[in-house]
Amino acid sequence: NRPLTFLGIESSCDDSAAAVLREGPAGARVLSSVVRSQGLLHAAFGGVVPEIAARAHAEVLDHCVEAALAEAGIGLPEIDGIAVTAGPGLIGGVLAGVMLAKGLAAATGRPLWAVNHLAGHALTPRLTDDLAFPYLLLLVSGGHCQFLIVEGPDRFRRLGGTIDDAPGEAFDKVAKLLGLPQPGGPSIEREAAKGESRRISLPRPLLDRDGCAMSFSGLKTAALRARDTLMAEAGGLREADRRDLCAAFQLAVADILVEKTRRALGLYRDVGPRVPAMAVAGGVAANTAIRSRLLALCEGMDVHFVAPPLPLCTDNAAMIAWAGIERARAGIDPDSAIMARPRWPL
Ligand code: KG4
Ligand code: ZN
Repeated sequence: NRPLTFLGIESSCDDSAAAVLREGPAGARVLSSVVRSQGLLHAAFGGVVPEIAARAHAEVLDHCVEAALAEAGIGLPEIDGIAVTAGPGLIGGVLAGVMLAKGLAAATGRPLWAVNHLAGHALTPRLTDDLAFPYLLLLVSGGHCQFLIVEGPDRFRRLGGTIDDAPGEAFDKVAKLLGLPQPGGPSIEREAAKGESRRISLPRPLLDRDGCAMSFSGLKTAALRARDTLMAEAGGLREADRRDLCAAFQLAVADILVEKTRRALGLYRDVGPRVPAMAVAGGVAANTAIRSRLLALCEGMDVHFVAPPLPLCTDNAAMIAWAGIERARAGIDPDSAIMARPRWPL
């Protein structure tokens, strides 16, 4: 039962990443977490180009692994296990990671675990906090938005989620139409901090409906219309209008997430957890305004709230290594024949 040291590899979207984790008395310590963003490669195309992503992953992933080992100050033989994202994501990128991981596992004779990218996000709160199953999770990223009850490393119960876009996608699109750099989330957050959130009114779709279903595409369209109206009035996009629109948009997203979280907490409490706890994960969970609104909600409902440090919210390989350790500790067998799975619901 000695502490495990794991290597994690992630390449499901536009970040190539590798990380080394070592178990400690409480959770595990991130010895290194290397993330090489491909953002610039895709910038000119206005979105992630799968072909370019796959080639870039194949080129840089092994350097990421080398850098992660060097930064952790250990050699490959000291690794006890390897965990790799096997989906969901862009097939070419996932394949690049899976092939590299298989090669490393074969070369070292170490066991290899296939990790679901979403499970990586969902288990991350346990990497940094003493958080027991079952907890309520709001997973909000560029491609996903759902409420899950996390019952174990391999057991997730879905309570509901978006019926159209994910909030991260909406942040990215709204940033694009306001001429702000990608990824849109951090750009909008920066502008919103200087803006007046109540001047421009935007809709909160589905807020009056029961349940945890959410919708963000109408909000995005409304933001586009608001921009057009403001531009028509001023003969161009004024700085102040842009800031206020960012603030209004971020407030609308936060309002939707908070209200739906309140309902999800109601459903989750029926499960009867010993210590009610809620966590957020995924790129949008890096948004400070959204985090503090969720914290306030939980405090008011006597629910323990956990939000991982910002670099562990956006895509990284530490979360994949951690999910691997969780699987190993739960007695889940390594995966001898890993298949890349572009679609892989939790
Ligand atoms: O989890 P992630 O790195 O990738 C996946 O989608 O799996 O999430 C990326 C998304 C992007 O849409 C990005 O704009 C958003 O997370 N994001 C943010 C913030 N930082 C990243 N959204 C709002 N506020 C932020 N500070
Ligand atoms: Zn992600």
